[in-house]
Amino acid sequence: MEKRESLRGMQSASVRLRRRSRLSKSTIVIVGSGVVGMATGKGLKAKGHRVIFCDVAPDRVALLRGQGFPAIHTDELAGPEPDAYLISVPSPTVAGRVDVSFVKDAADAVGRAIACHRTWALVVVRSTVPPGTTEEVVLPTLELASGRRAGAGFGLCMNPEFLRAATAEQDFLHPRVVVIGAWDERSDHALRAIYAAWYGVPIISTSFRTAEAAKYVANLFNATKISFFNEMLRILAVAGADPAAAFAGAVQGGTGFWDQWYGTQCGAPYGGACLPKDTAAFLGFAEDLGFGDLMPILKATLRMNDEMAEAPSPVEAPAGIPQRRAV
Ligand SMILES: NC(=O)c1ccc[n+]([C@@H]2O[C@H](COP(=O)([O-])OP(=O)(O)OC[C@H]3O[C@@H](n4cnc5c(N)ncnc54)[C@H](O)[C@@H]3O)[C@@H](O)[C@H]2O)c1
Repeated sequence: MEKRESLRGMQSASVRLRRRSRLSKSTIVIVGSGVVGMATGKGLKAKGHRVIFCDVAPDRVALLRGQGFPAIHTDELAGPEPDAYLISVPSPTVAGRVDVSFVKDAADAVGRAIACHRTWALVVVRSTVPPGTTEEVVLPTLELASGRRAGAGFGLCMNPEFLRAATAEQDFLHPRVVVIGAWDERSDHALRAIYAAWYGVPIISTSFRTAEAAKYVANLFNATKISFFNEMLRILAVAGADPAAAFAGAVQGGTGFWDQWYGTQCGAPYGGACLPKDTAAFLGFAEDLGFGDLMPILKATLRMNDEMAEAPSPVEAPAGIPQRRAV
């Protein structure tokens, strides 16, 4: 009986310990303290983590210090020995290609800091980068600069940010989902522990490439949606319809607007009684008005559907691209 009581005592102590460690407070360095970095750092601080901002721009460091935040220049990165480095530096598009040199430079600085660590540290890519960047650019740069191997020497995650610039701080504090692409289980657990205070927010654990892709899917859909409505705005004006009223009806009546999963379980062309006939008919209608050129998205939609009808399965990935989850 006594033994059972003491076992029960030990179990509840270990549950308490587990809970406490799940909510453990980390020291986190934000590498790149712009829109995303500031919102992230302020949000993590609000949840009880110790945050140090870091930036390559001296005026940004001065601004943050002036606001009362601990802030360091990239040259001072070797000092704090935090539990995690979150990289949120720019990834601009130059001549139609993403420039990952800022991400590589930041990874190099973080790697050199990790070389001096007495303990394991987690590195998290938060910049928007194309699939493969974390594995092919960030990981080797970190390994080279730190002299350590990913996994045993340091952890690595890709954690895209879905916030909107105008409401950055609020969006970071109230995410709808957290996506974690992780190198290994330890990295995944370490980042999940940082997000432990976000009770009830779903976390998707996946590979680097899938996490990187999730952000582009979200942004490309938003861009396409806006362009689709701009296309409809132009053609409805020509057709003598009131776009605002038509959009109000469509947004409230169309399944694709109120069912967020509609159309996302893809792999086959659209079919049924209405979509094939109405898409083709509306393009014909616009062409008869002499305004077929106003509908490039509708034309692309019809082409995409024809291609899916001919070859419904996804295109094969080139050899060498892993099709797996890392965790
Ligand atoms: N702005 C948004 O709404 C938003 C939303 C989600 C994701 N993103 C992505 O997040 C990333 C950052 O975007 P942002 O809007 O915060 O950019 P930003 O330009 O506002 O901030 C980036 C900061 O990084 C600093 N920096 C550049 N190189 C550095 C280095 N080597 N070390 C340390 N600091 C460095 C810059 O001085 C700047 O202060 C980009 O990949 C972007 O696509 C942006």
